[in-house]
Amino acid sequence: MTEKKGTYYITTPIYYPSSNLHIGHTYCTVMADAMARFKRLSGYDVRFLTGTDEHGQKIQTIAEEKGVSPQEYVDGVVAGIKELWKTMEISYDDFIRTTEDRHVKRVQAIFNKMYEKGDIYKGEYEGLYCTPCESFWTGSQLVDGCCPDCGRPVQKAKEEAYFFKLSKYQDKLIDLLENTNFLEPETRRNEMLGFIRQGLDDLCISRSTFDWGIQVPIDEKHVIYVWLDALSNYITALGYPDDPELFEKYWPADVHLVGKEIVRFHSIIWPAMLMSLDLPVPKQVLGHGWLLLEGGKMSKSKGNVVDPVKLIDRYGIDALKYFLLREYTFGQDGVFTNEVMLKRMNYDLANDLGNLVSRTASMIEKYCGGVVPESNTEDDIDKDLKAIATGAASKVEAQMDKFAFNMALEEIWILVRRANKYIDEKAPWILAKDEAKKPELDTCLHNLAESLRIISILIHPFMHTTSEKIRKQMGLWYADVVWEDAFTFDMMYQEQVKKGEAIFPRLDIEKELEELDAMQKAGAEPEEENIPLELKAEIEYDDFDKIDFRVGLIEKAEKHPKADKLLVFQIKMGTERRQIISGVAEDFKPEDMVGKKVIIVANLKPRKLRGLESKGMIMFAENGERCEIVTTIAEDGVVVD
Ligand code: MSP
Repeated sequence: MTEKKGTYYITTPIYYPSSNLHIGHTYCTVMADAMARFKRLSGYDVRFLTGTDEHGQKIQTIAEEKGVSPQEYVDGVVAGIKELWKTMEISYDDFIRTTEDRHVKRVQAIFNKMYEKGDIYKGEYEGLYCTPCESFWTGSQLVDGCCPDCGRPVQKAKEEAYFFKLSKYQDKLIDLLENTNFLEPETRRNEMLGFIRQGLDDLCISRSTFDWGIQVPIDEKHVIYVWLDALSNYITALGYPDDPELFEKYWPADVHLVGKEIVRFHSIIWPAMLMSLDLPVPKQVLGHGWLLLEGGKMSKSKGNVVDPVKLIDRYGIDALKYFLLREYTFGQDGVFTNEVMLKRMNYDLANDLGNLVSRTASMIEKYCGGVVPESNTEDDIDKDLKAIATGAASKVEAQMDKFAFNMALEEIWILVRRANKYIDEKAPWILAKDEAKKPELDTCLHNLAESLRIISILIHPFMHTTSEKIRKQMGLWYADVVWEDAFTFDMMYQEQVKKGEAIFPRLDIEKELEELDAMQKAGAEPEEENIPLELKAEIEYDDFDKIDFRVGLIEKAEKHPKADKLLVFQIKMGTERRQIISGVAEDFKPEDMVGKKVIIVANLKPRKLRGLESKGMIMFAENGERCEIVTTIAEDGVVVD
């Protein structure tokens, strides 16, 4: 039995259940799973947490579009995510959903504690607001100056909100990042330090423009900002603050694995929240890179989302996990291509490992009646193989300490390739022809079986099913996988070997590439067409510049007494009041228009429409079949340009 080495708490980000997860999302979870399995095997008491981040405006909007409640919507997507993790045999100990009662009540308790500490205060949030989306954005989030969700213009706006005194923790955060290895890799640490040194503003931690969130416990009009809600999951899942058992055992976390774009939240907001709660900060936040596609980021409309389930159905869980862990370097972005994946599967798995297993098993069957022979001799080649085999585990440990999954696997493959070369060097089929060479033949096959025993232990955290298949073929089905056994040679004694099916079939890469392409095209949603609209003739900028746009408030709206298609509006523009008539009676009810702030072409020559004067024009815009009113939340009288 492996001696217990202490606790190890590892987490993944909690995923947004806005749609099904793709291979990029599974990358982080596969790494966390391999680390959790590795630590368990090497003697730690591991807790592995994952889950879903279910609140926020975006989810609410998607649910509304689908005509279901946000809860119904997330329940469906979360069921799919859990199914995916089951398919991928992810060994999490707990799955937290931010809509669960245990989380909701604990987040409220956390808010109260921070409030009582004096770290939360009520203030006014001023930002750029998109009215149709009811969302606030920061300048850097805008796309071409417009709302990143709907592409429409945003306006400056204010709302009452609660703030967290993030600025108070600025110096402590600098100290944390400068003087510990809390955040890695170093490039991310420097990036974050630069950001903090520019000066931290207090953080707005409540919203009142939508309600799909956890209610602020002291003010029912507000919900708690999703990131405060989401980050708390790492401790609410351990029972904080009301159920201390797991919390006391596993907190602080050993590592939060996160993608590079959310490092900022984990290395600034999260430690500051913990400091406010007088709790220790996690030992480490590790930021990993992204899996990209040749055409850029994965997107459904481009038809290039890689669905992990389809790959698993075709190549198996272990082949996919191996590829993700072997191909990419932690911390860096990497490009996913089917070709690179298929080559890895063929060369490393089918050729290197698969061949080693099948050659060893068939030779032990053929030359030794299926029983692992004893070793009687030793030359330099044997010594070399043994040294590499017994030295691999500590090299794997060293690489895993650095989260260098690819290098850990490379260390194992150095042994796999050495063992294959050993077969070629020893040429057992020649030894078998000479009775006098029987002791050498036995040694050779014994050493190969031993090497495979060690390999089966080393690969267990990354590919446990393959490990078990190898152990079954080597007659080791009865023995527990024990990490320490990977450091010792000569543990096998007369095991019954039985050759099984190839552990990884050889793939016809050309054929696979064609089929994968066809599958991915079939699964793609058609690209949205880009057909230019039919518009009136172009105008010069000078013509446009003559227009004086103003913001007006509709104070009164009624039907024109003499024309069914016209509405008569009384408008207030700053200090001036005037009448404007528009031909929109078929599109809008007068009572719905009162109180709206609209944009007005204020310097249009007045004219009479069926006996009534109209001075200026209210802006409406064509939107397909419908006519839309152009509204604003700016004060009336404001000049718009
Ligand atoms: N809900 C937040 C996390 C809150 S944690 C307290 C979130 N969710 S997410 O679903 O958008 O992203 C979850 C993780 O998936 C992030 O770490 C992100 O980097 C990762 N990935 C999403 N696409 C990815 C790739 N293409 N490649 C690698 N990781 C990717 O952010």
